[in-house]
Amino acid sequence: MRIKACRKAHFNAAHRLYRKDWSEERNIQVFGKCSNSHYHGHNYELIVAVIGDVDPETGYLIDLKILKQYIKEEVENPFDHKNLNEEVEEFKTLNPTAENIAFVIWNRLRKRIEVKYEIEVTLYETPRNYVIYTGT
Ligand code: NI
Repeated sequence: MRIKACRKAHFNAAHRLYRKDWSEERNIQVFGKCSNSHYHGHNYELIVAVIGDVDPETGYLIDLKILKQYIKEEVENPFDHKNLNEEVEEFKTLNPTAENIAFVIWNRLRKRIEVKYEIEVTLYETPRNYVIYTGT
């Protein structure tokens, strides 16, 4: 039986969207308020889905306690109440858009979760705006 098991998580973080190689005007034009040089925060809501075959012996797809722990170590601890641009290594060279944050989270979790599982990361930057990354 193939199934998708999900775990929700949450973090608050500050970011700024900009390119150093662009003028201030162009950054404001493209990124708008998200380019504010004094940074601003979002309440990010995260849903991590793990997809695979249920173990017939245990009835589990994955032990959600372990998934919870991976999310804590790879996402909540390093991202929560942080300035993503300055405090998270990946965003020193990558604009912390919702798209790129989902990509980074997916890659961090991919290193921890067995390859037999597919991973899907859904990231809400606002209650109405969200992205989904499945690794393709
Ligand atoms: Ni923003």
